[in-house]
Amino acid sequence: MGDRRILMGVVGRPHGVRGLVRVHSYTADPADLAGYGPLLDDAGRAWTLAWRASGVAELRGADGQALDGRAAAERLGRDVNAPALPEEGEAMLSLAALVGLQSRGLPVAAERDSAVAAGEALFTTRMGQLNLSCADCHDGLAGGRLGGARIPQGRVNAYPEYRLEWQGMGGLLRRIRNCMTGVRAEPFPAASAEMASLRAYLGWRSNGLLVETPGVRP
Ligand code: HEC
Repeated sequence: MGDRRILMGVVGRPHGVRGLVRVHSYTADPADLAGYGPLLDDAGRAWTLAWRASGVAELRGADGQALDGRAAAERLGRDVNAPALPEEGEAMLSLAALVGLQSRGLPVAAERDSAVAAGEALFTTRMGQLNLSCADCHDGLAGGRLGGARIPQGRVNAYPEYRLEWQGMGGLLRRIRNCMTGVRAEPFPAASAEMASLRAYLGWRSNGLLVETPGVRP
């Protein structure tokens, strides 16, 4: 048994205002779908289906209630879609690592667009109580030491990466936030245009390096 399922049909748009839905059936004779007893949706909820017209069905939940109007039918359609992944959640980091892995060994080749230009402007803007720009350290002092750490050039070809210091995977946003709090600046929000353009610029700055994603660093 387990969790294996066979796709029998797809629930589509609402039909009319009374809670009916369009259903695309995959059974040889589409009408047979109504004979399969309870059908499960992606969320595991059971429904019984009765055809009301060609391709139009009434669905009743486990409680025997039919969908109550068009809004309920619309919600059902939406429920089938997974919600967006949180930007820095484990699932998104894993997905980014897997996608990046497909480019492993290829040179970074970002185009210079308006986001890159905006990111470069931010990179050279002084910020925080220490009043330092990213460029002050990553261009001016690269190769030098800051506390225990060596100041890198600020090129990125391995994110998301596993850091020993983090004891886990982390993305570029986390790295940028660390540098911003380092100069006592309020980090830009994860979903901000500023973060997006800094990322774009850092990518462009890394052109020619070979992709190492997912990286492993101390
Ligand atoms: C005061 C100096 C300083 C400033 C200012 C600074 N950084 Fe950093 N940055 C560092 C140091 C030091 C490290 C390495 C830290 C480590 O290895 O733990 C680093 C690491 C990085 C890395 C990782 C590079 C790699 O090789 O993986 C990126 C990306 C980065 N910084 C971006 C930025 C951005 C963007 C800004 C501006 C918002 C910024 N930094 C501002 C000192 C600085």
